[in-house]
Amino acid sequence: MKIAVVGTGYVGLVTGTCLAETGNDVICVDIDASKVEKMKSGIVPIYEPHLDVIFERNIKQKRLKFTTDLESAVKKAQIIFLALPTPPGEDGSADLSYVLGVADQLGKIIEDYKVIIDKSTVPVGTAEKVHAAVAANAKVDFDVVSNPEFLREGFAVDDFLKPDRVVIGTESPRARKILEELYKPYVRQGNPIIFMDEKSAELTKYAANAFLATKITFMNEIANFCEKVGADVDMVRAGIGSDTRIGKRFLFPGIGYGGSCFPKDVQALSKSGIEAGYPFQILDAVMKVNQEQKTSILPKIEDYFNGDLKNKKIAIWGLAFKPDTDDIREAPALYIIEELIKRGATVTAYDPEAMDNVSKVLGNKINYALNMYAAAEEADALVIATEWSAFRTPDFSKLAKKLKNKVIFDGRNLYDLEQMKEQGYYYSSIGRTL
Ligand code: UGA
Repeated sequence: MKIAVVGTGYVGLVTGTCLAETGNDVICVDIDASKVEKMKSGIVPIYEPHLDVIFERNIKQKRLKFTTDLESAVKKAQIIFLALPTPPGEDGSADLSYVLGVADQLGKIIEDYKVIIDKSTVPVGTAEKVHAAVAANAKVDFDVVSNPEFLREGFAVDDFLKPDRVVIGTESPRARKILEELYKPYVRQGNPIIFMDEKSAELTKYAANAFLATKITFMNEIANFCEKVGADVDMVRAGIGSDTRIGKRFLFPGIGYGGSCFPKDVQALSKSGIEAGYPFQILDAVMKVNQEQKTSILPKIEDYFNGDLKNKKIAIWGLAFKPDTDDIREAPALYIIEELIKRGATVTAYDPEAMDNVSKVLGNKINYALNMYAAAEEADALVIATEWSAFRTPDFSKLAKKLKNKVIFDGRNLYDLEQMKEQGYYYSSIGRTL
């Protein structure tokens, strides 16, 4: 099939590349000419495991192309994916100006039937708005479909190629048939394509992210409570997770969820609720608890140093909002660093992928170490903010030689309590006490 993907951010790029992988002709459109040039020469502009290999292969096979020319790309395509940014506006609702701006242009360009697909996370009712914006100028038939993505950063390629499910919101039999054909190769292992109306598909995306954010937040509150009463959240997690109604995944407590999706989507759904006359009470609590959770490690550090962090040297392992990404949006590490600096501490950080991005935001407010042990050099304490695999099994005796004090504040529960005691560390984690 001939496909145009408009917007080559994270979602667009993964979508375009993975659609080319099953033999489709894909052309990706972006207004950023220098980015388009880079991609043409084979450079993947984001860090995402396994993407580079299929990106290169499909460029070589001439199935994956890039352009700034929306008109020519759209004219050649039968299916047009919109993977444009929907950043939160000042009031927290999703800003649709990019999506509707392109929809407006599409109406002027299209000369034959097209399926236009909303891939971006957009509030309920957006497909209707996109339809109206295209229809204002279009002289031919077209359908607008909601087809939300459920890609996790770090696993996006796998999630696209082998999805748990594909959700397609359309009531047009013509569009349904085309999309069924398009997604057939990806659901061979028997996972479903779930067809529904546009609005339900749009809400499915928000409901999925809000539910997962709530699940994590609930566990974070249980962990905080465990600390108060001396229970062990790992035990509680094992105890409840084996109930299949609850499930084992997404029950890991920590220093809060971050990233570009959960915070933005929970806020946008909450805003939609207010607009629709149904203010979600649960989402308000989730947002509040998560914000507090991000810096919940701070009072513990302060207590340890008797309230005085002035000139204390703190090492930070992990800056990305989660492992296997260089994404630092809403990363708890950044909130912690800001508070540490406010209290007069100096910070030396290490992250395997995200240091470039952080240096653009924090500049020389912190020091950047070449590796995890160098970050710990002469530090009064080590804070772990992201669970990168490399941090899971450090050489504790090497680490002890670097640190001034054998003190670890672990925001991701990486180590065994007994093991840390044996190693002679002061070890503080989330929801567990010795
Ligand atoms: C999330 C969803 O998982 C995807 O399905 C969705 O497509 C995507 O948002 C999106 O809307 O585009 P992502 O933001 O990449 O994907 O990250 P997750 O792996 O879901 O993690 C989100 C946050 O939850 C991270 O900050 C992570 O550290 C935190 N988390 C996750 C926990 O604190 N505990 C857990 O048990 C699991």
